[in-house]
Amino acid sequence: MLFDLTHPGDGVILQEPVYHPFFLAVTNSGCQIINNGLKLINGKYIMDYNGLEDIFKPQFEFLSDSNRVKTIIFCNPHNPVGRSWDKEEIVRMGEIVIGNGGIVISDEIHCEILFKKQKHIPFATISKEFEQNCIICMSPSKTFNLAGLEISTIIIPNKKIRDNFINTRTG
Ligand SMILES: Cc1ncc(COP(=O)(O)O)c(C=O)c1O
Repeated sequence: MLFDLTHPGDGVILQEPVYHPFFLAVTNSGCQIINNGLKLINGKYIMDYNGLEDIFKPQFEFLSDSNRVKTIIFCNPHNPVGRSWDKEEIVRMGEIVIGNGGIVISDEIHCEILFKKQKHIPFATISKEFEQNCIICMSPSKTFNLAGLEISTIIIPNKKIRDNFINTRTG
């Protein structure tokens, strides 16, 4: 199970192309990858918001009646396409996922590796609702070149989700 938020057979959204271990995180949990692929428009990658909305429709073809799409693994900045998503993009994606009862797992590990004109927008800072429906993944490994030490940090502002996460890890 992925943090006990999902159960085998549930759908987890990825936005390909994306950091390949995300795929293993989903399948090792017995969940199904639901790809909402990024779109390349005029040399710029963007998210497919219509595709995202479609995924939450009840008739979504990959899932049985008892399984649901529960979460998205959002990559910001996105590895490998290099987009640091702007506020409007994050809001649009988050509103679709949270509005449909989902949780956003936001991998922000590359947040300090930006061009000077860019500014990282942490998912949890958008609104109280976003903060209470997200799991933030961070690590000093990229910024300080410490890969391999397995020293990531998971930030879960919502107590219920946090307790759930702790119980799943230790129980
Ligand atoms: C988006 C993303 N998340 C997580 C990781 C894992 O980081 P680490 O190498 O510190 O385990 C990477 C590594 O490339 C990554 O690109």
